Amino acid sequence: MIKIILNADVKKGKINKNIYGHFSEHLGRCIYEGIWVGEDSSIPNVKGFRTDVIEALKKIKIPILRWPGGCFADEYHWMDGIGAKENRPCMINTHWGGVVENNHFGTHEFLEFCELIGAEPYICGNVGSGTVQEMQQWVEYITFDGKSPMADLRRTNGKEGPWSLKYFGVGNENWGCGGNMRAEYYADQYRRYATYVRNFGDNKIYKIAGGASVDDYHWTEVLMREAGKQMDGLSLHYYTRVSKDWSVRGSATEFEENEWFSVLQNAFYMEELVNRHATIMDKYDPEKKIGLIVDEWGTWFGVEPGTNPGFLYQQNTLRDALAAGVHFNIFNNHCDRVQMANIAQMINVLQAVILTEGQKMLLTPTYHVFDMYKVHHDAQLLSMEYESPDYAFGGDKIPRISVSSSQDKDGKIHVSICNLNPSQGADVDIDIRGVAAQSCAGTILTANEMNAKNTFEAPNNITTKVFKNIFLANNHVAGKLPPKSVVMLEII
Ligand code: AHR
Repeated sequence: MIKIILNADVKKGKINKNIYGHFSEHLGRCIYEGIWVGEDSSIPNVKGFRTDVIEALKKIKIPILRWPGGCFADEYHWMDGIGAKENRPCMINTHWGGVVENNHFGTHEFLEFCELIGAEPYICGNVGSGTVQEMQQWVEYITFDGKSPMADLRRTNGKEGPWSLKYFGVGNENWGCGGNMRAEYYADQYRRYATYVRNFGDNKIYKIAGGASVDDYHWTEVLMREAGKQMDGLSLHYYTRVSKDWSVRGSATEFEENEWFSVLQNAFYMEELVNRHATIMDKYDPEKKIGLIVDEWGTWFGVEPGTNPGFLYQQNTLRDALAAGVHFNIFNNHCDRVQMANIAQMINVLQAVILTEGQKMLLTPTYHVFDMYKVHHDAQLLSMEYESPDYAFGGDKIPRISVSSSQDKDGKIHVSICNLNPSQGADVDIDIRGVAAQSCAGTILTANEMNAKNTFEAPNNITTKVFKNIFLANNHVAGKLPPKSVVMLEII
């Protein structure tokens, strides 16, 4: 029996809904085909944006969407993506398959799409190959209300008033595809570029500095020391893989328990990364004003057989769902520092929540976890005390369960629990303190197979169900979580 004490009267801070953010890059079929099909497409669309995708994304209440990259961002010149589509120049997408990018999805299309799905836009600017002037003008084009060359150009292109733009990233992975810079050099570049990311009128921009890769603690140290005063957020990128060796990609769908275990073990590594980067941030920012922005996270496996390796198209299984649940519980539990996270990527790329094939669309197991966890958006993190038994495999071990809980503005308590063991259930007893519980209900995502997935032929093979095996008595909620399951409990 796993005993959990839930201190419902001890609140530990607000879980920023932006932890449930997404990332969409000009990569493979994320933007083109996934979001944008064009107004003349036979696929049902609203002004060129897929209707089915809009509806699915609205349901999970995506709070924020990052664009246009990724590595693409540091080669993207935004002026190529405005004005009449037939006049927009083509470019080569050198990072992702060397395909021709026609720039039909640009600034206006991105911001309109965000409006359609109800998400805040988060734009990543080009430091690697772009100029300070280009970045300054992009912000002016989007946000300036008065008369100016850029605001007038926006009006010429059909948008009279400005958009609101809260989040702006100053470069992406500038230690790698964003210019191969040293931390010391990028810190200075950041300071220079960020100076010209202006606040026009009452549009106040939250500036995000390009952060570390995985465990590059030196990067975080230097950025915090040299540029901490000029930033609102500092990013972190970490992908969950089967192995630390990039040449071993593993399959997204064909695996045994060894790769089930290694993926979840690597998902848990996010906890150490957050702790250690946050500790460095604490040294320079003890008041925790600067957010840790995990703006790329997710599983990264080999591509689906027969697809373009540069398109990073992978299937998604129950294992991805568990990895997502582990990440969300970590982010929730560190909501004092983690202010945003963006899964890579929203559609048709890496750990996607939606896959498309022509007219068809399916929702992945990861989508369903986003749907279940949306109850944590902007809720108050609650204090919990428990000791997880181990899930041991091949001489190694990880916690068997991953948990977080929150209370929403209506007073409802939500407890999200993942049972990572693929063959053993987990008996839990939650001792609720501080409130008198009246009722308890549950939702579950699980399947018989570790690699259960949805396909275009069977799109509802794995989906959420009501979890009945849970009981409330004497202010304790008790039940048995099936093996390999994600459970969300609602206690009123
Ligand atoms: O998400 C795919 C790529 O991974 C992004 O373009 C880059 O930032 C990261 O290395």
